[in-house]
Amino acid sequence: MPNTIPVFKGKNRFLPGAEFLRNPFEFTVKRSHEMGDFYMMPFLLRKIFVITNHEAVAHVLTKNQKNYRKSPAYRQLRLAIGTGLVTSEGEFWRSQRRLVQPAFYKTQLEELFKGMAVVAGKYIAELHEKTKRGEPLDASKEMMEATARIVLKTLFSTEDTADINEMYRVMMDAQDYLVYRTVKPYMIPFTYLNGSHRKFKRDIAWFNRYIFDLIEKRRHDPNPPNDLLTMLLTSKDEDTGQAMSDQALRDEAVTLFAAGHETSATALSWALWLLSNHPDVVQKMRGEIAAVLGDRMPGFEDLRKLTYTMQVIQEVMRLYPPGFAIGRQPLAEDEILGVKIPLNAIMFISIAAMQRDPRYWERPHDFFPEHFNPDVEKERPKLAYMPFGAGPRMCIGNHFALMEMQLLLALLVRDFDFEMVEGHPVEPEPLITLKPKYGILMRVRPAGKLAAAS
Ligand code: HEM
Repeated sequence: MPNTIPVFKGKNRFLPGAEFLRNPFEFTVKRSHEMGDFYMMPFLLRKIFVITNHEAVAHVLTKNQKNYRKSPAYRQLRLAIGTGLVTSEGEFWRSQRRLVQPAFYKTQLEELFKGMAVVAGKYIAELHEKTKRGEPLDASKEMMEATARIVLKTLFSTEDTADINEMYRVMMDAQDYLVYRTVKPYMIPFTYLNGSHRKFKRDIAWFNRYIFDLIEKRRHDPNPPNDLLTMLLTSKDEDTGQAMSDQALRDEAVTLFAAGHETSATALSWALWLLSNHPDVVQKMRGEIAAVLGDRMPGFEDLRKLTYTMQVIQEVMRLYPPGFAIGRQPLAEDEILGVKIPLNAIMFISIAAMQRDPRYWERPHDFFPEHFNPDVEKERPKLAYMPFGAGPRMCIGNHFALMEMQLLLALLVRDFDFEMVEGHPVEPEPLITLKPKYGILMRVRPAGKLAAAS
């Protein structure tokens, strides 16, 4: 006899999944407490299984991962980012992962860090200028700008602001369009009539021309810069000696741009908001930053000494994981913990709910960087914390993201005070990443000037 699991019925008898779809972040964080760590809800012709149970998660992402492909939402993304690492499957994914992986080896990261630090230094100098105007700033827009500039520098060695602004706009508009299609699939036919699909295609065509042009120039560059694009261009399959085609290069480059900046930007925005409510944590960070860096720019070797800063970042991503969930779909029927998984199942792994599970966290809903004290951390099961996913499809950019966030957060906290604009609502909105719905409006002043000004 197969095991049974709780079924979520909800208020809407005909569409129990509707409540889940409205806000899967809030839904799974709240409901997992009452429904347990493995439950199901019917949704139209599908069955959505919400899992936070470690054994079940390991089954889907590691042990039997060959039986699972990414869920349908990822396929919408293909319209913009093509078939890069995030959206590809099977043998093609495996060979691409082998080709892209060396770009993220430690020696290469050390090289990329140099470009990152140049851009971060310039960004901080510009932020000093902006704060002189005395107007509140949207921290989430600021962080998107900073991380987009960093990823474009490390990917293409470009610092041209006109290009950056246009690429950024195209990606943001494309994301809005694709989220709309995913959330309201019945509206897709209208997007062909009201011009929004045409605009999307035009934008993507511009983006493609830009990147194909960069690839072409780079192929003939006698002194190519040591960036991610050069790494991708020169990478060859160990067995076959094959390099990537231009189309594969384009798709991987756009994927790294898209996957690589909004995630870090949202984590940093949540960090600034949480820190504005925790002056004690800011003070402790400043003590560490003063001891390790003083007034100078961080070097690569400094990062491993900024241990408390790292704990703060880990704790931010525990409460507000930018990739708040992972979706999978079985290729053949399966059985997990004795429960039959049909072909029409969607496996929804809620990273957000797992990372607030009271069994593993002393203060599950509070901002408490001490959760990551090394002695506490080693007691915890591995899957209790997985902001970068798990198994073979785990984030390829995790070390890149951590060093970028450590660098930016240390500089921001050292140089500025951040204070929320009173009454501004702050609410997580689960789109492709977990973004602050209304942005994060803050007064930003050079450090130490807040008290003097009020
Ligand atoms: C705070 C920052 C980041 C977070 C929280 C994050 C999170 C994730 C998660 C959860 C996955 C797994 C998705 C799945 O299994 O379905 C993933 C995959 C991926 N991420 Fe990240 N990511 C971050 C930053 C980055 C950066 C900086 C890059 C690149 C520069 C990047 C590139 C990728 C790629 C290419 C994949 C697909 C890997 C594969 O399937 O082989 N990410 N990320």
